[in-house]
Amino acid sequence: MSNGMSSREIRGLFLEFFRERGHDIVPSAPLIPRDDPTLLFTSAGMVPFKPHYLADEPPIRRAVSIQRCLRLSDLDEVGHTPYHATFFEMLGNFSFGDYFKREAIEWAWEFLTKVLELDPGILWVTVYKDDDAAAEIWRSVIGFPEERIVPLGDKDNFWGPAGDSGACGPCSEIHYDMGPESGCGRPDCKPGCDCDRYFEIWNLVFPQYFQSADGTRKQLKKPGIDTGMGLERLLSVLQGVKSIYDTDLLMPLVTAIGD
Ligand code: ALA
Repeated sequence: MSNGMSSREIRGLFLEFFRERGHDIVPSAPLIPRDDPTLLFTSAGMVPFKPHYLADEPPIRRAVSIQRCLRLSDLDEVGHTPYHATFFEMLGNFSFGDYFKREAIEWAWEFLTKVLELDPGILWVTVYKDDDAAAEIWRSVIGFPEERIVPLGDKDNFWGPAGDSGACGPCSEIHYDMGPESGCGRPDCKPGCDCDRYFEIWNLVFPQYFQSADGTRKQLKKPGIDTGMGLERLLSVLQGVKSIYDTDLLMPLVTAIGD
């Protein structure tokens, strides 16, 4: 598909969608996190908000941001897949002890299928293997087909903490199907397969634990929401190109370097 939207338009639509739903628009924080000795770089949209998940009275309850990120754990993938980058922008909405799974799932779905008009038929979702509540919301509230809801384990569907300690929890990811010609051809190929057919565009994390540096977890007093959608990946889908480097955001850089 190609809906012709530019990176600038997508950023504006995202911020406005969540502003209308009670979120404060928070500017991107610096790439070097402030006051967080557990992280060298800002690796996710939630990093500047880490203390809010633990606070009894966070200064805000809902935030939306477009965070510049550098994720060292992904660097070895760069150049080997069409959708990993050294640096990227993460679109995210956050709840600090306010709304939880139902709103996060409903709004993500509404944004993708109503605002951006992505075809629901080419989207899949994954849920954490024990997270019956998230699977039920996808089935009953969204009406998502059971056969395209894939339960996965800790490696794929448990996120965080960012750095040695912080909020973490199970997650539900929305994946885009690039079509059979992009994949391994196995009849049971689906999200979680190691081929390039399906790729994650939005990760909805349901932080409900605090993990200490020694790996122990305790329940957060109030669970929250932490979502992240890679702008470059979303653009490649919306602009109908096969690589994030072919989008209106990165192509001018590639061309300038080529010149
Ligand atoms: N914090 C989550 C991520 O980075 C949304 O994938």
